[in-house]
Amino acid sequence: MTIDVPSSSDAEIRKLVGRIGRPIVLVGMMGVGKSTVGRKLATLLGLPFRDADDEIEKAAQMSVSEIFERFGEDYFRDGERRVIARLLAGGPAVIATGGGAFAQEETRKLILDGGIAVWLDSDLHTLVERVGRRDTRPLLKHGDPREIVARLKNQREPFYAEAPIHVSSSGGPHGETVNRIVQALEQWP
Ligand code: S3P
Repeated sequence: MTIDVPSSSDAEIRKLVGRIGRPIVLVGMMGVGKSTVGRKLATLLGLPFRDADDEIEKAAQMSVSEIFERFGEDYFRDGERRVIARLLAGGPAVIATGGGAFAQEETRKLILDGGIAVWLDSDLHTLVERVGRRDTRPLLKHGDPREIVARLKNQREPFYAEAPIHVSSSGGPHGETVNRIVQALEQWP
């Protein structure tokens, strides 16, 4: 089923972006589509798109997997927090964060203070199907991906729920999710 969402005019989009005036930060589980949805949302809103994981890789000159392997998760979370702080200070943009970022207390506080957090949410089945398409996620390398994703989802949901906007991205095309985010932003705060 496709949901027919009336699209906003250019003038409405400009007004919305002006009113928000700060970064829109996508949070939520790995596999939910934060980067794909974020890129489309940024294009629609005429804002720059920043992917926190890509920025961490650039800053470290290493892949996320390599950082986990060589230095461990705590080191990664530290770099992640600093990169997200820098992106938040860069003015209006759409920022996609890695799935664990918003579960970190300090990083969550930075995002809640400096941006508008949008929790993108999917059912477990959709997440497991989507994470299966790539084998680059260090947290899924040791164990059954379905169990790991289910456990992390349970653990992290109370944190994601602190985001002021909650949008479902299960099943349907990413364009629909983008429209839902725009609608939710129009109703914010
Ligand atoms: C992680 C998710 C990844 C990446 C890292 C840790 C997590 O990002 O930041 O592998 O803790 O859930 P995606 O959510 O983009 O896969």
